[in-house]
Amino acid sequence: MSEQPVFGRAVALDADRRLNAAGILQELLTDMIDLSLQGKQAHWNLRGRMFRELHLLLDEIVDLARDAADQLAERCLALGVAADGRLATVAAGSHLDPFPEGRIEDEEVVELIAARLQTVSEAGRSRLVPLGEVDPVSQDLVNEVLTAIEKYLWMVEAHRPAERG
Ligand SMILES: [Fe+2]
Repeated sequence: MSEQPVFGRAVALDADRRLNAAGILQELLTDMIDLSLQGKQAHWNLRGRMFRELHLLLDEIVDLARDAADQLAERCLALGVAADGRLATVAAGSHLDPFPEGRIEDEEVVELIAARLQTVSEAGRSRLVPLGEVDPVSQDLVNEVLTAIEKYLWMVEAHRPAERG
């Protein structure tokens, strides 16, 4: 995130802490936007016996990612820092591997989406401690988001055949 001024005085937190917290929130925002786009890509191009179930589950994940993105972005603004949801920013900054093009088999979709939820979980968890040190209120929001992400990680992984764990 580029250097930018902090605006507003409503939040009782010094400017450095606000910028620091917003920088972490911005990273998670970037991943969440990418997750919402990749979820739709999978929702459309999925094929196979688990089509209907995964088609619907993927839309729940997209809804979660969009809602989380909105909350993370608005938390940045509450801290007095602009959020950046632009396509170029997401493309350059996302931690998620790109999603393959074309039609895709259901079992492969399970692996790809589980891997992306895992990436979001790991990226978020790795930032919980530094975020809590600068702003415990923002840390609470990220805890909520990660709780939901990890619930869907479980639900997606539950579609794996037993031999794959
Ligand atoms: Fe749809």
